[in-house]
Amino acid sequence: MEPIRFASLDEVRDAAMRCRRCRLWEGTQGTVFGEGDPHARLMIVGEGPGQREDEQGRPFVGRAGQLLDQVLEAQGLSRQSVYITNVVKHRPPQNRTPLPDEVATCLPILRWQFYFIRPKVILLLGLSAVHALLDPQATMGRVRGQLVERSGVWMLPTYHPAAVLRNPGLRVHLEDDVALARKKLEELAAQQ
Ligand code: URA
Repeated sequence: MEPIRFASLDEVRDAAMRCRRCRLWEGTQGTVFGEGDPHARLMIVGEGPGQREDEQGRPFVGRAGQLLDQVLEAQGLSRQSVYITNVVKHRPPQNRTPLPDEVATCLPILRWQFYFIRPKVILLLGLSAVHALLDPQATMGRVRGQLVERSGVWMLPTYHPAAVLRNPGLRVHLEDDVALARKKLEELAAQQ
C-alpha cells in the first residue's frame, strides 16, 4: 500500500474495499473500513471486526460496541463526533488476534486514515492497537491511561471493551481513560 498515494479518505476506503493483500478477507462478508466524523479530533482504534461488524460492515456494533457507546456518551461524546476504526479491516477467523503480517499489511490503510482525518487524540483499545501503533512490547497494565505524544498526536492506550465485558472490574479504567481523552481535547482546543 505504501507506494500508492491517495487524494482523499474516499480513495483510501475504495482501496481497502478492494484489498486482497492478506488472507483475512477470505471468508468475510466484506470490509469494515471505519465510520464517524471524517474531521474528528478523537479517533478510536480497536483490533478488528467481529461477527456483527462483518455482517453490518460497521465497526463496534456488537456488545463491545454498545459498551463503548455508553462510555463515550457518559463523556458527552457521540459516535458521530468521533471516528471509529480498527487495526485490521477484515474479520479474523473465529475472532482470533490478527497476526503480525496481517497487521503490517493493513497498517498503511490506518495511517492514511490518520493522514486525512488528522485527529488530535487517538484512543487505542486493547493490545493489538497498542502494539501496532505505540510499542510492540507494551503490557496494558504498564501503558494504560498514559498519554504519549507521537508526531504531534496524542495516543492513549486503554482496555478493549471486550476485555471489560469479560472483566467488569476494568470498566472504571476505560471510563477514566475516555474522560482523560476528552479533557486532553479540551486542553488542546484551549491552546489554539
Ligand atoms: N472488536 C474490535 O476490536 N473491533 C470491532 O469493530 C468490534 C469488536
